[in-house]
Amino acid sequence: MKLDSVRREYKYAALNKQSVAVSPIDQFKSWLSDAQDANVNDFSAMSLITAEKDGFPQSRIVLLKDISIEGFTFFTNYDSQKGKAIGKNNKVGLHFFWPELERQVRIDGIAEKTTRQTSVDYFNSRPMESQLAACASDQSATLESRSELDEQFKALQETLNGQQPECPENWGGYLVRPVKIEFWQGRESRLHDRIVYELIENEWKIKRLAP
Ligand SMILES: Cc1cc2nc3c(=O)[nH]c(=O)nc-3n(C[C@H](O)[C@H](O)[C@H](O)COP(=O)(O)O)c2cc1C
Repeated sequence: MKLDSVRREYKYAALNKQSVAVSPIDQFKSWLSDAQDANVNDFSAMSLITAEKDGFPQSRIVLLKDISIEGFTFFTNYDSQKGKAIGKNNKVGLHFFWPELERQVRIDGIAEKTTRQTSVDYFNSRPMESQLAACASDQSATLESRSELDEQFKALQETLNGQQPECPENWGGYLVRPVKIEFWQGRESRLHDRIVYELIENEWKIKRLAP
């Protein structure tokens, strides 16, 4: 495959300090809603980046499930690799890319567990199969085979016999409270717009970065 000639011009839109919202959360909500309106596949998917003890940062996709003035919420297994990493270092990165809109958003934030009630409420709202899968899968643990997982799932299904499983204690949400959010809009000739919000003494300061 020849990649060195693969390129495109970005000219969908522009971004400037005068036109962005005062709050980066409002700005984010507006861009998220644009991504949904543009039918971007998995528009709420984001990379979650954690610092690991071996020094290799790890990135994986999770789904954004709530956005509020407090921050960004996703759900996962607290004993997974990401859960363990956050337990040791709660500074995380979140990263969205919406190619159809030529936009990316990078977030630095501090992750904390959501309340048990928030986790239980979200767990109970999920389809039964997803609930069973969350209970049956020891996320990030080594499996001997695919059938081991399928058998764990089936055994749980049989035990519960149509009853809804309870939200496991090791499953729930993380709220990421942002301290820095960068909005990137692709522009012509690679002269992209980068507007960064930084939380300084409880106030969001806005600046432009060179592309
Ligand atoms: C589109 C998409 C959405 C995903 N959503 C989630 C999610 O919301 N929560 C989650 O724990 N894993 C989700 N995953 C799986 C993760 O990317 C990852 O494989 C899993 O959480 C294990 O990561 P870890 O071993 O680094 O903890 C998703 C994957 C994809 C591709």
